[in-house]
Amino acid sequence: MSQKTFKELEHDGWTERAQSYDFITPVTNQAINPILSGFAAIKGQRLLEVACGPGHLSGEAARRGAVVEAVDFALPMVELAAARYADVSFHEGDAENLDYADNLFDGVVCAFGLLHLQHPQRAIAQAYRVLKAGGRYTYTVWCPPDQGGEFFGFLMSAIQAHGDLNVDLPEGPPFYRFADPHEASSALALVGFAQPSFTTIPIVWRGQEPRDAVDVIYKATVRTKAILDAQSDDARNAIHDAIISGVEQFRRNDGFEIALPALMVSAEKL
Ligand SMILES: C[S@@+](CC[C@H](N)C(=O)[O-])C[C@H]1O[C@@H](n2cnc3c(N)ncnc32)[C@H](O)[C@@H]1O
Repeated sequence: MSQKTFKELEHDGWTERAQSYDFITPVTNQAINPILSGFAAIKGQRLLEVACGPGHLSGEAARRGAVVEAVDFALPMVELAAARYADVSFHEGDAENLDYADNLFDGVVCAFGLLHLQHPQRAIAQAYRVLKAGGRYTYTVWCPPDQGGEFFGFLMSAIQAHGDLNVDLPEGPPFYRFADPHEASSALALVGFAQPSFTTIPIVWRGQEPRDAVDVIYKATVRTKAILDAQSDDARNAIHDAIISGVEQFRRNDGFEIALPALMVSAEKL
């Protein structure tokens, strides 16, 4: 059995990945406008971003006039974000145990964070707690392959074909759980959120070189990288080769484009 808990695996992984994570932020940043547009009059609103990574969403929210706090449990992510966006108050903090008083924020947002948490239900309860009545919680997660999520579907198929997906890793929550509207509705209702809405954001991953589809795993993922690290050298090389040759099916114009839609879920604290 592996020694680390899932949370430790994630914490160490994101801490190591902070410097290279911007390899994927042209992808995750495609969710920023849809998320922030859900807040009708954002100017002057108190917003908390949870699992902020390098802070691009918070930086944009502050640029639009929100008063923004942001937390991430990987200190190098927080330092990177703070160096970039002076108008945001960034802190090291745990989504599952927020260090804020009750009823403080008009909005809590979490972009591509919930699927990385050991106890996502706690994080949803924490978001509810720190929101004012009438406040809004919005999160995004990746859609599964059967809902158009080609990108992770493609990577996982290559791993399955040439390696082993059942490697000895700490047990984590299901990757696509909160992209299921029924699961999302029950998890939100359990802590008191009402009137959830669901919007698919048609995000696209773009690469310049075939190798980018391999590099993105090492530069900007934790669980997928851990699965590759656990393969034999031969299997790992075969997976790399399969990704590099398979990405040709996604060639568009002068590069590669693979669909990576996200589900945006938003609900209100009454
Ligand atoms: C996929 S990145 C998303 C970053 C950014 N929100 C974006 O949209 O690009 C996941 C982030 O969640 C953070 N994270 C994971 N578990 C966390 C936790 N328990 N508390 C706070 N942050 C956490 C990681 O450190 C990482 O920065």
